[in-house]
Amino acid sequence: METAILFESYHHGNTKKICDAIGQKYGITLIDARGPIEDLEKYDLIGLASGVAYGKYYKTITDVIRNKLPHNKNVFFIYTCGNPNKDYSMQVKEIAAGKNCTILGVYGCKGYDTYGPLKLIGGINKENPTADEINEAIKFFENILRRCTDE
Ligand SMILES: Cc1cc2nc3c(=O)[nH]c(=O)nc-3n(C[C@H](O)[C@H](O)[C@H](O)COP(=O)(O)O)c2cc1C
Repeated sequence: METAILFESYHHGNTKKICDAIGQKYGITLIDARGPIEDLEKYDLIGLASGVAYGKYYKTITDVIRNKLPHNKNVFFIYTCGNPNKDYSMQVKEIAAGKNCTILGVYGCKGYDTYGPLKLIGGINKENPTADEINEAIKFFENILRRCTDE
C-alpha cells in the first residue's frame, strides 16, 4: 500500500520527529507541505501532520489539504501542540470529510513550545515529544496500517 505523510513542522521540528520515526520504521514517503507537492493521487493512505497555531493546523498545510488532497482517500491526523486539552484537527478533518475521505484516527501529543511569552521562561514541554510519545505514535500508525490491510 502506497503511504505518505504530508507534514508542516516549523516551530521546533516536534511534529517532524514523529513523522521521521514512522517514516524510518515503515519506509513511507514524507512530504514537506512547504516544499513542492507531488501529485498525491498515487497514495492509498495519507497522514496529515502539523504543529498547532492559534488552535488549528498550520496555514500552509491547511491550504495544501484544501487544494491538493485528493478525494476518497484513507487519511489520519497527527499533531503536536503546547496544550493538549482538545482536538486541534477539527478544521482539517472537516476539509478531508468534505472530500469524502475516510478518517482513520487522530494522534496528538505535547511538543516543545516557545511561542510568545513562553520564550521568556525558556518554553514549556522541553522534553516533548518524548520517546514514549513517539512510540505511541508508531503504535497508532501500526494500528491504522493493520486496519487498512485487513480490509
Ligand atoms: C505561532 C504559534 C502559535 C501557537 N499556538 C498554539 C495553540 O493555539 N495551542 C497550542 O496548544 N499550541 C500552540 N503553539 C505551540 C505549538 O503547536 C507546539 O510547539 C508544536 O509542538 C510545534 O510543532 P512543530 O515544532 O512541529 O512546528 C503555537 C506555536 C506557535 C509558533
